[in-house]
Amino acid sequence: MEKLVVHGGQPLTGTLSVSASKNAALPLMAAALLPHGVTVLDQIPQLRDITTFSHVMRITGASVQCMDRKLTIDASRVDFPEAPYDLVKKMRASFYMLGALLGRCGQARVSLPGGCAWGPRPVDLHLEGLKALGAEIDLDEGYVVAHAPRGRLSGGSYRFEPSSVGATVNLLLAACLGSGGSRIENAAIEPDVLVFCEMLTAMGAKLEGIGTRTIEVEGVAELHPVQFSNCPDRIELGTFMIAAAIAGIPDQPVVMTHTRSDHLGNEFLDAFQGTGAKCIIDDSNSTITVTAPERLTPVSITTGIYPGFPTDLQAQWTVLLACADGSATVTDQVYGDRFNHIPELARMGLMAHVSGNQVTVQGGKPLSGARVMSTDLRASVSLVLAAMVAKGTTHVGRIYHLDRGYEALESKLSQCGIQIRREQYDEFAAVHQG
Ligand code: EPZ
Repeated sequence: MEKLVVHGGQPLTGTLSVSASKNAALPLMAAALLPHGVTVLDQIPQLRDITTFSHVMRITGASVQCMDRKLTIDASRVDFPEAPYDLVKKMRASFYMLGALLGRCGQARVSLPGGCAWGPRPVDLHLEGLKALGAEIDLDEGYVVAHAPRGRLSGGSYRFEPSSVGATVNLLLAACLGSGGSRIENAAIEPDVLVFCEMLTAMGAKLEGIGTRTIEVEGVAELHPVQFSNCPDRIELGTFMIAAAIAGIPDQPVVMTHTRSDHLGNEFLDAFQGTGAKCIIDDSNSTITVTAPERLTPVSITTGIYPGFPTDLQAQWTVLLACADGSATVTDQVYGDRFNHIPELARMGLMAHVSGNQVTVQGGKPLSGARVMSTDLRASVSLVLAAMVAKGTTHVGRIYHLDRGYEALESKLSQCGIQIRREQYDEFAAVHQG
């Protein structure tokens, strides 16, 4: 197994380049299964989740080739509409195959995703929504078996409650090639969904209301392959901004390039500026300069759907609060028990108390290095952030979680002055060495 070893206390200086978005790339890849022919996707990050999803797509008969962050997907032949448990259990987004295969083949057999690192993450909205659009759905030995009667979905109307990124993507994938019209209410408007809708439109899909809570789809008989460019990763950008606020030198700006700051959402930007960190965004939204304050002011946040504060940045925000003078809360209204990072951060000296869907952080007490363990993607990066400001050395284990969603994190941070390196380790031996 691999771990990151971080010697804390070094300031973050210089320029960080933001990679392309993981959570936008996955629906774009699924969309490439809809037309017969070769779709080319640019700006696809080199990440474990992309590799996993490429494998899932290949099972169906599609060819997926990756070179220099360019994916070439040949969906001329998609004749095995199935996504097996062994792959779907590795990554929930594989469930996008349900909508993609229903749209493309009129049938799908896709494993239910099963458990998640934190609490229940149901798929009821995906299934109810697809039924409302005309799909016949049964469960068979842990698999969802879906059919479109007469080969194409008739279309229909469905209102999400709550709004869901994944279910909105699945319904759109299935509806575009339907025989009738569909209406999706309370649709997700996260930037990842918008970029996905732009690609569908470029492929010839008939969508109205992109960027609003109601999307109308008029089914078309076929879509055509396209060349399409992915967007930068907004969660990596937010993570880097927090890194600059906690580990930057006051008066020495840290620059983030290849950004889409308009994808961050107002609530994150407002909370960030409330901490005293200075943030200058260039006119094209593609560069952000962050300057750390002398002292960080604690700001309480509550996660919510876009443009609310992203749940994918709350673990990182907890570390920022640990570095601020005073007490504040992090409340997660999207995933009420996404707090597996708290016990690990507590091993580094974090003073925090979890109650229900809220954690109260008492900041200002220095963190210190420890052996800690990643439990999921965002939890792992919060441990790296904490390690950067901790006194002494931190060993962050099980970083295969981190590799799912942060491209070349240690080389980006080390180029900016952080002492961080990747090492092999034997987890069992580490337990006995203490
Ligand atoms: C996406 O997950 C992201 N994943 C997650 O990022 C992110 O945390 C999440 O959206 C919220 O922003 C990808 O894009 C691959 P949802 P998704 O359906 O689509 C409830 C990361 O770290 N719900 O929008 O699965 C659900 O429990 C990952 O990169 C139902 O009740 O999230 C939650 O409370 C982790 N029934 C809310 O909706 C359903 O059928 C929003 O979840 C589906 C969802």
